Amino acid sequence: MLSGEGITLRDVVDTDLPIFFEQQREPEGVAMAAFTAKDPADRSAFEAHWAKNRADRSIVMKTIVVDGRIAGHVAAFGPPSEREVTYWLGREFWGRGLASRALAAFLLLVTERPLHARAAKDNLASLRVLQKCGFEVTGHDTGYANARAATIEEVLLTLPRR
Ligand SMILES: CC(C)(COP(=O)(O)OP(=O)(O)OC[C@H]1O[C@@H](n2cnc3c(N)ncnc32)[C@H](O)[C@@H]1OP(=O)(O)O)[C@@H](O)C(=O)NCCC(=O)NCCS
Repeated sequence: MLSGEGITLRDVVDTDLPIFFEQQREPEGVAMAAFTAKDPADRSAFEAHWAKNRADRSIVMKTIVVDGRIAGHVAAFGPPSEREVTYWLGREFWGRGLASRALAAFLLLVTERPLHARAAKDNLASLRVLQKCGFEVTGHDTGYANARAATIEEVLLTLPRR
């Protein structure tokens, strides 16, 4: 467990999942993240996805707790050469610097470098969070974004070895 002012990262427990399910289907978050599940309201697809990821020992995932409330989650996944971070906060927790602080805390736990990340080109808040935590833009790509039903541009970032 790792704490900052008001923020704790802890292991994911079963009772977090219904909250994550609601958070990852909030329309504003879905529109912003863009690269989402095909149908964020599909509960069985959500449960299958989380069961698979929680069984994968290579994935590090933490619940972000803010003043005792479940604000969201942050994770690192993928093979060592392509290890990537991802995070999601419930709408009511946005705009308070929490994602930046949660990711900074997570990067003290997950110490391998380089680490990678990607965000839709217009997800300016996420890009800012990553850059505040030391990620650098390394390139651009395009990909099919379920939430936009279109191929869109994404920004690729890396947290380099220092
Ligand atoms: C992206 C997300 C994690 C941001 O969480 P947050 O707690 O609001 O982020 P923070 O408050 O730590 O930081 C956001 C930064 O972006 C800036 N920002 C927010 N909206 C912005 C915009 N439209 N344009 C430019 N900057 C913006 C904020 O000012 C802040 O920067 P600052 O600290 O320099 O002022 C949150 O909105 C979320 O979970 N969205 C849905 C899921 C998602 O997009 N996940 C990331 C997928 S790549």
